[in-house]
Amino acid sequence: MAEDLYIIQGSKEDQYQSLIPQLKGLLAGEPDLVANMANMLAALKEQFRWFWVGFYIVKENELVLAPFQGPVACTRINKGRGVCGSSWQEAKTLIVPDVEKFPGHIACSSISKSEIVIPVMKNNEVVAVLDVDSEQYNFFDDTDKQYLEMIVEMINF
Ligand code: SME
Repeated sequence: MAEDLYIIQGSKEDQYQSLIPQLKGLLAGEPDLVANMANMLAALKEQFRWFWVGFYIVKENELVLAPFQGPVACTRINKGRGVCGSSWQEAKTLIVPDVEKFPGHIACSSISKSEIVIPVMKNNEVVAVLDVDSEQYNFFDDTDKQYLEMIVEMINF
C-alpha cells in the first residue's frame, strides 16, 4: 500500500484522474469496510479540500453517519429527508447548487453552500450514500457526478 498521497494541482478532471489509481492502491487487498471508507475519504479530502465528505449507511430504515472528514455532522437522516434522504429515496445522484433552495435541506453547518450526494447501490438497493459539501455555491457538476459514481463502486459494501 502506498503510504503517501501524491496531490496535484489542475482541473477537476486531472485531479480525479490522478487520484483514482491511488485509491485503487489504497484499497487493494483490504477487505474491511470501515478501513476502506476511512482511507478513501481521507484521500478525497486531501486532494480536493472539500468542506465535508462522508458516508451515511442505511441501517434499519435510516441513514446513519459513518466515516467522514470535516466538522461534526447530524447522525441520523430519514428516508426522503434532506439531500441525502432524497438521494436514497430516488436512488440517484443529486447535485444541489444552492442548499438553501433545496426543500428540506438539512443544515449540519451554515458554512455549506452546495452539495452532491451519490447513492451506493448493492443488489439494486441503496446501501449507503456519499455526501460532499462545499463552502462555495454551484461547486459540483457532471464531472464530479461521473467520477464519484465510479469511485463509490470501488468499495465492496
Ligand atoms: N445536508 C445534508 C445532511 C448531511 S450534512 O450536510 C453532512 C442533507 O440535506 O441531507
